[in-house]
Amino acid sequence: MNPNTSTIQNYHKRTKHHLQRYAKGPETIDWDDQPDPFRRFSGCEMLTLPAPGRDLQPLFSDLDNPQAIPMQPLDLNNVGLMLELAFGLSAWKQFGPNRWALRCNPSSGNLHPTEAYLVSTGNDFIKSGVYHYVSHDHSLEQRCRFDETLTDAALLIGLSSIHWREAWKYGERAYRYCQHDTGHALGALRYAAATLGWSVQLLPGWSDADISLLLGLDRKDDFKALEHESPDMICRIIAHNHITPLNADVLLATAQSAAWFGKADSLRAYHLYKWPVIDEVADAAHKPRTEEPVWQAPQHVLPASSCIQSATAIIRQRRSAQQFDGKMPPLPLSDFYRMLAAVLPGAAAFDPWQWPPKIHLFIFVHRVEGLTSGLYALLRDNTALEKCQAATLDKFDWQKQSDNLPFYHLYTGDLKQLAKTLSCHQPIASDSAFSLAMVAEFSESLALSPWLYRRLFWECGLIGQVLYLEAEASGIRGTGIGCYFDDSVHEILGIKDDTLQSLYHFTVGKPLEDKRLQTFPAYGHLQSAWL
Ligand SMILES: Cc1cc2nc3c(=O)[nH]c(=O)nc-3n(C[C@H](O)[C@H](O)[C@H](O)COP(=O)(O)O)c2cc1C
Repeated sequence: MNPNTSTIQNYHKRTKHHLQRYAKGPETIDWDDQPDPFRRFSGCEMLTLPAPGRDLQPLFSDLDNPQAIPMQPLDLNNVGLMLELAFGLSAWKQFGPNRWALRCNPSSGNLHPTEAYLVSTGNDFIKSGVYHYVSHDHSLEQRCRFDETLTDAALLIGLSSIHWREAWKYGERAYRYCQHDTGHALGALRYAAATLGWSVQLLPGWSDADISLLLGLDRKDDFKALEHESPDMICRIIAHNHITPLNADVLLATAQSAAWFGKADSLRAYHLYKWPVIDEVADAAHKPRTEEPVWQAPQHVLPASSCIQSATAIIRQRRSAQQFDGKMPPLPLSDFYRMLAAVLPGAAAFDPWQWPPKIHLFIFVHRVEGLTSGLYALLRDNTALEKCQAATLDKFDWQKQSDNLPFYHLYTGDLKQLAKTLSCHQPIASDSAFSLAMVAEFSESLALSPWLYRRLFWECGLIGQVLYLEAEASGIRGTGIGCYFDDSVHEILGIKDDTLQSLYHFTVGKPLEDKRLQTFPAYGHLQSAWL
């Protein structure tokens, strides 16, 4: 077996939570010592983006047909809006003396390991180079200046992760959460671009080494030890109809010979605990350059969304529910089926995703109109039925529930208590309309390439982002759940080996507001910057 595959399998196994013991994490947490959630580079030129908070006309439901949304001009105003809607702040919360920011993209524990970069060449509204986005200030720090010989216009967004930020709280399991967050960030970027009539093309062939070089992540002296950034993905923003092919080699050579500026400020955290296993798994999941086969998802038409709010409003109001109303009226079946249809690979939100689906949903239905409580499955790939049947309990009846969806009834019963127990005893998994496990075709993916481990989590994060926004659009709310007892979930489903593995949970219901919290505007702290 490829040694990287076995490193990853070992990592996955040792970072499972068990009913009797959690994966290894810090024994104590000193909240005053939390790593700074906002990275800044000192010594760079700053570019303040136009004022945030602008609304656009397209409704959330218009995003189902993004081709019909008029393409907005590619300028600094709109690029700033895209960055804000994808990675910017959405609100500040306060409880007593504690104040914290929320963002348009969610993050496990609100720790935000994901960093976003903008790379521009040949665009007249911004000097060519590499910029780091500072969500707190809604500004760009120019890390690198390209000479202007690269005249082909391109706009790229790069994502990276500071694993340490997440590991500070979650220890060894944190690497998984960083990957989820990357998937959510990709989803957030796609929705943000779609409101502007733009689209996102994930560039699948790039190696991690190439991404590091382009974003300057390999410039070791610019980062404090343990606070480096790991490369995740590069996306191209398609903002008009005349796109010239991107010459990656020329772009990389330009970045290599260009002038770079700034050093990352310290995250101001004391590195009391160290988690070397995270560096080990990150090395083992290192992606080389690849030739990716072209795959086209079968298109399918979504049942219309009843949401009449603008897309920008839904994106900015997205939150994680902390608590649900366990006495909620059943969720209308049409809303539930809309959410299921929206996470199928042919749905518009999966435009940037160019690979056959490897994640299926096992759903604990608690309160959905017209459905008996119990366990159901949404198979996101028609060819997965036999595989999933063979890998799960014989007693599941696999009764198809809808002509239009690959949605199956497996088992009838009140599974509220079970769902709560499986998700680390969290009531959000039982007081909701439904909660679910995202189950990956695991061993087969890893056997193809070890780094596909990361892509499985990204796919989960992308599905999660769609569920978050679809829940908001239905007038309810979702929450990602990274804490669950892995093998207890597998036991309940009858999964005996690594063929299938649960990689993420999610829950959707009617939220209860925590009245003790005060809410403040996202950019109130910077109002004077745009006067
Ligand atoms: C990968 C991931 C895992 C999460 N796991 C949990 C969880 O187990 N329990 C929970 O209550 N919230 C969980 N959350 C929700 C986060 O705590 C939430 O996104 C974060 O506090 C930011 O708040 P916001 O989503 O309202 O912006 C998770 C979110 C993500 C993205």
